[in-house]
Amino acid sequence: EPEVIRDKAAMRAWSRRRRAEGKTVAVVPTMGYLHRGHLSLVSAAAASADPVAVVVTIYVNPSQFAPTEDLATYPSDFAGDLRKLASTGVVDAVFSPADLYDRGTGRRAAASGGAVSCLEEEAGDGHETWVRVERLEKGLCGASRPVFFRGVATIVSKLFNIIEPDVAVFGKKDYQQWRVICRMVRDLDFAIEVIGSEIVRETDGLAMSSRNVHLSREEREKALSISRSLVDARTAALNGNTDCEQIKNKIVQTMTENGGQVDYVEIVEQESLVPVEKMDGPVVICVAAWFGKVRLIDNIEIDTR
Ligand code: PAJ
Repeated sequence: EPEVIRDKAAMRAWSRRRRAEGKTVAVVPTMGYLHRGHLSLVSAAAASADPVAVVVTIYVNPSQFAPTEDLATYPSDFAGDLRKLASTGVVDAVFSPADLYDRGTGRRAAASGGAVSCLEEEAGDGHETWVRVERLEKGLCGASRPVFFRGVATIVSKLFNIIEPDVAVFGKKDYQQWRVICRMVRDLDFAIEVIGSEIVRETDGLAMSSRNVHLSREEREKALSISRSLVDARTAALNGNTDCEQIKNKIVQTMTENGGQVDYVEIVEQESLVPVEKMDGPVVICVAAWFGKVRLIDNIEIDTR
């Protein structure tokens, strides 16, 4: 049974004790409502070192949601999560704090200009320090979610400072998030090895996501056009059709025909996330689209060399 820790100071003390015992501390940050995708990160964390102490964090971070987004309806099932984590047999602690921000006086902090998150909307002056990965946070999901990566980089920094892990595991499902964290760790000298873990899919190809629970049966069926169009694009690219404009148009068309509202389809260089015109190196096709009220993301790595 994993130990459930609610308090920052207790979490840090726990982590330091494990380190003193000579264990590597590996963390898997999540927002809960766990599925097999999350559990695959847990396996990667458990396999990252020996001996290892594995911590899973469960915290729905208000600062990465805009007031117009789905913080209020984000699914949760703490008892179920705990059961799933216990059944892996490799999780030592679950860090599930009630809140990780000082809520201050309730007056809104002097804004840095531009968009605000749910945290600022609710909390005010209890928090005003942000971590921004300035270029990487702007494209792809950052274009339609301007506060998202600022919130992610800041909460992950806080978790890193509280837990002081040696290893942190992120899923490639959130490809830009993984790259943003890698860049932040490098730029700010966090002594942490970041592991990127492969996307876990349902048997029909749909990338697993906590948000899939909000899809109707019909929407879920149509959302299969995301992964199918990505696999088709990969096949086309490996068969020599490496023209990005053509490939992107095809993906947009397929998702649109299935009732999807496309947010973006981009083909970018894998590490820098800079858009490319020809697929002549390691690239990743990233997509975001709405099916009903649910915004889904997916991606596929391709290297035609
Ligand atoms: P969450 O969406 O709960 O995802 C937690 C981790 O699980 C992320 O690293 C994500 O990439 C990974 N993950 C989700 N679905 C996956 C799938 N189908 N296959 C592989 N990995 C998958 O991402 C967040 O939470 C938050 O932004 C967080 C990093 C915790 C910061 O609040």
